[in-house]
Amino acid sequence: MIDMLFIGIDLGTSATKLLLMDENGNILNQVSKEYPLEFPNPGWSEQHPSLWVDAVMTGIPELLEGQDKSQVKGIGAGGQMHGLVILDEDDNVIRPAILWNDGRTFEEVDYLNNEIGMDKLSEYTANIAFAGFTAPKVLWIKKNEPENFSKISKIMLPKDYINYVLTGVRCTDVSDASGMLLFDVKSKTWSKEMLDICGIEEAQMAAIYESYEKVGTILPDIAEKLGLSSDVVVAAGAGDNAAAAVGTGTVGDGACNISLGTSGTIFISSKEFGVDNNNALHSFAHADGNYHLMGCMLSAASCNKWLMDEIYKTSDYAGEQVDITEDKLGNNHVFFLPYLMGERSPINDTNARGTFIGMTMDTSREDMTQAVLEGVAFAFRDSLEVAKKLGIKIEKSKICGGGAKSKLWSTILSNILDIKLEILESEQGPGMGGAMLAMVACGIYESVDEVCAKLVKVVDAIEPTEEIASRYEKRYQQFREIYPALKAVFPKLN
Ligand code: XUL
Repeated sequence: MIDMLFIGIDLGTSATKLLLMDENGNILNQVSKEYPLEFPNPGWSEQHPSLWVDAVMTGIPELLEGQDKSQVKGIGAGGQMHGLVILDEDDNVIRPAILWNDGRTFEEVDYLNNEIGMDKLSEYTANIAFAGFTAPKVLWIKKNEPENFSKISKIMLPKDYINYVLTGVRCTDVSDASGMLLFDVKSKTWSKEMLDICGIEEAQMAAIYESYEKVGTILPDIAEKLGLSSDVVVAAGAGDNAAAAVGTGTVGDGACNISLGTSGTIFISSKEFGVDNNNALHSFAHADGNYHLMGCMLSAASCNKWLMDEIYKTSDYAGEQVDITEDKLGNNHVFFLPYLMGERSPINDTNARGTFIGMTMDTSREDMTQAVLEGVAFAFRDSLEVAKKLGIKIEKSKICGGGAKSKLWSTILSNILDIKLEILESEQGPGMGGAMLAMVACGIYESVDEVCAKLVKVVDAIEPTEEIASRYEKRYQQFREIYPALKAVFPKLN
């Protein structure tokens, strides 16, 4: 008998996806609310927070249609990370949010990494500056929109804005705060040095919670609009990658999750705090109370979406892949660099651009499609190589995200990384993780470890084959020469 329900919110870049789950992990309903992404200038990426609020406020009633709403006990969100949401003193959103994949802050990144210095940044925050991180965006507003800067009363991340609207509590969680470059990841406090460097007061920042903690209950007027009781608990929630890691059971020491979504991330959980010497991987707090390392590619499944939607103008993604048979894997002489929004891990280059190379007169449409799937997988391998250099051994990984629905793409990835990919019974990434964090916040499970052990089930695996993996090994060695050869050309193209 079902007696408790939880709502998981995946506050994504192309849509907010909501799911309704019982305490045993059964998914009762799902709703997706899509919205656009604005690119006001090349390399810029913005979204108005009101789109997220509308998606949540119209999505939840739809999610609950035909359900017993009195059974809903908790809500938890996993949200797109790093986005800068700024509110004035009357709680008006000052300007559209500048998102995680926005590349406008190259000058601020240069100032932070080279004038303040990477050593200092790493000492203060365990990370260096990347264009998508929040602190460089604050500096950009300060310089380019001083009037907006002077109005800032509250600085928030996307899912924290939703939690604020739902509960009236100004909160963030340790995993999402880690991506701001304003947070001392090791001690889990705001970094006074970084706040000073950005000209921010601590009062403008939110209170910090562990991801599985209760931050409050929903406000009475919101409860009424949603048809819920105002006793419904809201968990702090997590950045989407940490939430997805919870949803795939990637917790504790040395577990790995690969997310093949709009962005591509390789997430390695760890009980100990650690930083890679070159800061090529992010060192963040995890939603299970521990830490993690993460490589983030700015364009992953979005590269294939771009090829299908914008270039081929087709919606038949699967149809475009049917002729890419196994004998072709590792034999493609066309390569693709997936840097359609510049790149974060590990090259940290906002000027890098998408590139096809190696075509001949016999190159087919399938070769180009295959090159895109492979280029994304090779770029994942670049981050995996950094982890390997740190002595981290990864033999298997969970996989989630829209791109993982393609068996072909997962097979390519498994062979290029030469690791086993585990397929989950219910692959709902951040939304499922959000609901699971809500269960812990409500005290249904004692810890994130416990809820993962009970609800996450591996049902299948994709293993690399020796033959394909060795063909790909050669191709990867070729792939890794392309970006260094073109690096100096990219800035001239912009
Ligand atoms: C992680 C990152 C992306 C976004 C996508 O550092 O920037 O994965 O969180 O929503």
